[in-house]
Amino acid sequence: MDYRVLLDDAMETARRSPERGRVADYIPALAQADPTAFGMAIATVDGEVFGAGDWRHPFSIQSVSKLFTLALALAEGGDGLWSGVGREPSGNPFNSLVQLETEQGIPRNPFINAGALIVTDRLLKLTGDAVGAVRGFLRAESGNPEVGVDDSVASSEARHGHRNAAMAHFMASYGNLRNPVDSVLAHYYAHCAITASCRDLALAGLFLARHGIRADGSRLLSRSEAKRINAVLLTCGTYDAAGEFAYRVGLPGKSGVGGGILAVLPGRGTVCVWSPGLDAAGNSVLGVAALDALTTATGWSVF
Ligand code: DON
Repeated sequence: MDYRVLLDDAMETARRSPERGRVADYIPALAQADPTAFGMAIATVDGEVFGAGDWRHPFSIQSVSKLFTLALALAEGGDGLWSGVGREPSGNPFNSLVQLETEQGIPRNPFINAGALIVTDRLLKLTGDAVGAVRGFLRAESGNPEVGVDDSVASSEARHGHRNAAMAHFMASYGNLRNPVDSVLAHYYAHCAITASCRDLALAGLFLARHGIRADGSRLLSRSEAKRINAVLLTCGTYDAAGEFAYRVGLPGKSGVGGGILAVLPGRGTVCVWSPGLDAAGNSVLGVAALDALTTATGWSVF
């Protein structure tokens, strides 16, 4: 089946919405993103990929990278990860610090920034190169050797990332980091600053639709681990808007402040959408609207 018509229709429906959101500017380098960019891709479990709009245009994947760091940390190190990070929705913004003190430096889940810093720390300990592990995985799964780190975005965030630095130091004070704060932050900013397109991310996320199997047929995760990542994506992947995302889209998904969202259709494929205008929770406005339109038209959902 050629899914391009479905994508065109979903994007057209999304464009009819009056909301456009705002491009993230708290990382100054991201403020240069084109607010009118809009692309969408579907990849199927057998590795076919279809796209519409700016689906081949690379963008800053930001928190979409957290899905891959989690998968790689679990693949490399197993369940020990969960002693340092929870898996409950936080009900707070992605960069919030408020729960960390009452919860003894153990972040609620791996997708809020504090939790992602813990996952990056563990992946760094396990591999010696967290950003290299994520970049290598994305290149291998997408077949695109040009997936890389935009150093100007990483250094722009490093100069303005006071909240992430505060969280990392705070968690270190509870003994919940295995590496020096500066190394953890550097790897975290770098994997967030990876640039990839909807096409690349849809292909790279397929292991979650294939219940843990990579593009080359090897197993990254057990079926059960893949199920668990999808579950945490559904409950926590879009932060304090995860309930609304489940209500509208009905799929596990991970958003990023670059405007990307990668959603998983277990057993069927993945959908990646990109549009830089964000809502108050940091999720792409047109991205959520297009996924809503697609799943509503097709009935594709985990429910
Ligand atoms: O740490 C940050 O704030 C960014 N590097 C990533 C945040 C992000 O993408 C949140 N997602 N919507």
